[in-house]
Amino acid sequence: MVKRVAVTGAAGQIGYSLVPRIAAGEVFGPNVEVILQCLELGPALQALKGVAMELDDCAFPLLKGIVCTDKLEEAFEGVDLALLVGSKPRTAGMERKDLLLDNGPIFTGQGKAIEKVASKDVRVVVVGNPCNTNCLIAMNNAKSIPADRWTAMTQLDHNRAMAQLAAKAGVHSTDVKNVIIWGNHSNTQFPDWRHCTIGGKPAPEVIGDEAWMKDTFIPTVQERGKAIIDARGKSSAMSAASSALDHARYLYQGTPKGEWTSMAVVSDGTYGIPEGLLCSVPVTCKGDGTYDVVKGLDFSDFGKEKFQKSIAELQNERETVQGLLG
Ligand code: NAD
Ligand code: LMR
Repeated sequence: MVKRVAVTGAAGQIGYSLVPRIAAGEVFGPNVEVILQCLELGPALQALKGVAMELDDCAFPLLKGIVCTDKLEEAFEGVDLALLVGSKPRTAGMERKDLLLDNGPIFTGQGKAIEKVASKDVRVVVVGNPCNTNCLIAMNNAKSIPADRWTAMTQLDHNRAMAQLAAKAGVHSTDVKNVIIWGNHSNTQFPDWRHCTIGGKPAPEVIGDEAWMKDTFIPTVQERGKAIIDARGKSSAMSAASSALDHARYLYQGTPKGEWTSMAVVSDGTYGIPEGLLCSVPVTCKGDGTYDVVKGLDFSDFGKEKFQKSIAELQNERETVQGLLG
């Protein structure tokens, strides 16, 4: 079996960490060959050529072809999976939503091209920021593709939340299960520990410090992207690529039994999220490209208020880009 994978912005920071791991089989497993279809802006094609040369030099057994192009339809032709990364990152002093007017328009043309030439069973993962609303834009420009094929990445926030809880509890992050990121991939997101377990025990019991949860854990996860920019002078890239792989791998290889992850998916009104918004919720994946939203989880009053704030921000972003929604 061969899967065609489009990666936009493949010569960028995230792209450079992402493409070798896709080529190594991390998304579809060791028995599925891949063809990488890399999209870049014209001025970055020379750098992309260098990335392709390096991919050749890796001699990946599963890599069956590399397309390098600045043409949308060539990049998305027949793709099974499209990872939409290419767009501007924020710099110090900006919030992710400040990118909306620059990056939003990229996703109208990409949505249209995906609808025209991608595989009918395509899955799209949006990483470029602000990713929830960019995904909303692309999805609304490709209305013949079912809405449940479109997801945006909050896996990085999910992984960050696991790492923070693990450090506080003095355990490995693999001992932390079922944390949740609710809302937007922004500093209004609500990283929720209420249903989380650490070493099989309820996280609130293991941490035993609600003030730390509220006053340290939440803002640390919410502002981790900014902290990385302040430390590195550039936005997160290795961890973003790794999280994009986790997100795509869960779609194609499933979430572990009894565990969920977080993804921004289109709302059908569940949890009171306005219909049509791309909002992060807990999901389980069977491994066939589909997901199920985990339903029936309860919130504290504190959590409800936090989540509502993030939903309000998503609604506001949707209003800002109304003109791009096709
Ligand atoms: P980068 O500037 O290093 O690379 C972006 C690449 O995209 C560049 O090579 C650029 O030429 C290309 N590009 C720009 N517009 C394009 C277009 N219309 N079509 C194709 N390619 C295009 O940036 P990066 O660090 O790789 O980050 C990429 C995006 O991912 C940013 O928007 C960043 O904020 C976002 N991001 C999201 C998350 C998340 O958790 N969702 C995490 C990290 C970064
Ligand atoms: C992140 O969360 O690291 C990315 O979204 C980059 C950013 O702008 O914070």
